[in-house]
Amino acid sequence: MPTPLKDTTKSDKTGTGSKSDVAEHLHKAVCSSYVLFAKTQGYHWNVVGPQFYSLHKMFEEQYNDLFLAIDELAERVRALQSKAPFSLQEMLKTGSIHEQTKLPNAEEMVKDLITGHEAVVVDLKSGIESAEAADDAATADLLTGRLEVHGKTLWMLRATLQG
Ligand SMILES: [Fe+2]
Repeated sequence: MPTPLKDTTKSDKTGTGSKSDVAEHLHKAVCSSYVLFAKTQGYHWNVVGPQFYSLHKMFEEQYNDLFLAIDELAERVRALQSKAPFSLQEMLKTGSIHEQTKLPNAEEMVKDLITGHEAVVVDLKSGIESAEAADDAATADLLTGRLEVHGKTLWMLRATLQG
């Protein structure tokens, strides 16, 4: 019986440019996005002050977007035959977002969310690099789409701090 040919395609290598490397980056983006989602919803519930209504509504739009995005990203992890995160502990440990121990005021909430979205952007950019190195156009496209959304969210959050 002939020995099966060893698959030497990029997608099966380990390390940079491999499918598992892409999945690892995606996994981190899911974890970061999930913590950012929970934080944004917590701020939606607890924000007070003169900008209450606009921030309450804006945070709602943002956590709804993150909720849908997390599902897409996590399912892409599964499509790459990797395990998606399944515990909050894992999301906090693996993700780039830190929880607050004290409830911030409205301005601090906006600043904290800006920091959070910037951290997710860093995760997404390294994920895109990894996907491109692995010739994984589907993941690169998915992450590029998310990069655009986070860019818009950052613009909105920063605009509320001006004037
Ligand atoms: Fe609500």
